[in-house]
Amino acid sequence: MKKIFLKLGKQPLANSFLPNLRKKTLNNEFFYNLNICFDTKKFLVSITKPVNPKSQYTDKYAHRASESKTMRNAFKKIAHKLNKKYNPKLVMEIGSNDGVFLKNFNSKKVIAVEPCKNLAKMTKKNFKTYDEFWNLKLANKIFKKINEKGIDLIFSANTISHIPNLDQTFTGIRKILSKNGILVIEDPSLFEVIKNNSYDQFYDEHVYVFSTISIDNLVKKYGLRLFDVDKITTHGGSNRYYICKSEAVFKKSNKLNNMIKKELKFKLNKFITYKKFAKKVIKSKTDIIKLFKKLKSKNRKIISYGATYKSTTIFNYCKINNRFLDYVTDTTKNKQGKFTPGTHIPIISPDIGINNSVDFAFLGAWNFKKEILNKEKNYIKRGGKFITHVPRIKII
Ligand code: TYD
Repeated sequence: MKKIFLKLGKQPLANSFLPNLRKKTLNNEFFYNLNICFDTKKFLVSITKPVNPKSQYTDKYAHRASESKTMRNAFKKIAHKLNKKYNPKLVMEIGSNDGVFLKNFNSKKVIAVEPCKNLAKMTKKNFKTYDEFWNLKLANKIFKKINEKGIDLIFSANTISHIPNLDQTFTGIRKILSKNGILVIEDPSLFEVIKNNSYDQFYDEHVYVFSTISIDNLVKKYGLRLFDVDKITTHGGSNRYYICKSEAVFKKSNKLNNMIKKELKFKLNKFITYKKFAKKVIKSKTDIIKLFKKLKSKNRKIISYGATYKSTTIFNYCKINNRFLDYVTDTTKNKQGKFTPGTHIPIISPDIGINNSVDFAFLGAWNFKKEILNKEKNYIKRGGKFITHVPRIKII
C-alpha cells in the first residue's frame, strides 16, 4: 500500500528556467503537486503522480553531464573499471546525455539511448544513437539490429529513477541483456537522503528515490537479480547497483549483504522512518526562513550558489524568492540570464555574481561543496560565508 509522508506543495518543473518574466511566460508556467509516498510492501519511495516525461525531456533539456569536472572524472573512472572487469563486446547506455560516459569506450561497440533531441544530436556524430524514450518497443527494435547474444553491459546513471514505467524499463532490459550481461545503474541513495535530510532530491524528474532493499525486491519481478552495490559520492550520495539475469553466474557480494543489513537497521522498510523524516523537513523550512529573515534584518546580502534542480524544490517549498536572495550564480551558460522556476530569481554568471558585496551564499549545489569551497578560497578569505541545509541549516 502506498502512503504519503511528505507534501512539498505546488512545484514547477525543476529545470524550467524562465527566459524572461513577461506576463505570457508567467501565465504559461506549469505547476504540479509534489507529494512523496512510501509503498509499505515494496519499500519503494516515489512521487504520487509523476509528470508526463514528454513535457520534461524535450529538445531544450538544460543539464549537460560533461560540464562538471567531478562528473567527467567519475564517469571516466567507472567506464575504465567496467571495461577492465567485464570486457563487454557491446555496451548500451540508457540516458546517455552528451556522451560523457560512452566516450570512454570504442565508439563502434556502443549504443546510446537519449530522448532529449538536443543531447542525442551531440552523440549522433560519434555513436549509434536512438533519440527515443527507453521502453519495451525500443528494446525490441534495438534487439533486432544487434546479434541475438544481446548486450553485455547496460549502463544507466540518473535515469532509471526518472522513468515512471518500471515494467517497461526492466522488461526491455531483460529482453536485451546477454546471458551473463550486467546492468549497472546509478541513482541517488534513499539512505543518504533520509540521513542528510536532503529533501531537495525530490523533484519532478526523480520519480523514484531507490534504496538497496527496494531495488533488490523490484528486479526479481523481471527475472533479474541484484548481486553487488557500491556506495558512491556523486549527487550528494548515490548507489551503484549491479544487476544480472537471475540465471547468470554472478555471486551475491558481502558488500550487498552488508548494505541491506544497514538499511534494515536504519528502518528504511518502516513507514515511521519517513514520518520522522517529514518532521525534520518541516523544521529545515522553519529554520532557513528564520535565518534568512535575521540576516536580512541586518542588511546582509544573500545569494545562492548553483541554479540546481534541487534548489527548485527548496525555493518553492520554503517560498524563497527575491525578498531573500538577490540572485543565483551558475557556471552553465544556458542558465545564465534566465530566472529560477516558480520563484523567478535572476541567474547570473559567478564571474559577476561572486563579488565583494556578497555576505552569504546558499549552497544550492551542496553536492559539490568540496569543489566549491576549494574554488572560492578568496571569497572565504575576505569573510564571505556559505549556508547549507545539509544535514541541517548551518553557516559555514
Ligand atoms: P547538479 O549537481 O546537476 O544538481 P541538480 O541535478 O540538482 O541540478 O547541478 C549543479 C549546478 O551547479 C550546475 O548547474 C552547475 C552549477 N555549479 C556552479 O555554478 N559552480 C560550481 O562550481 C559547480 C561545481 C557547479
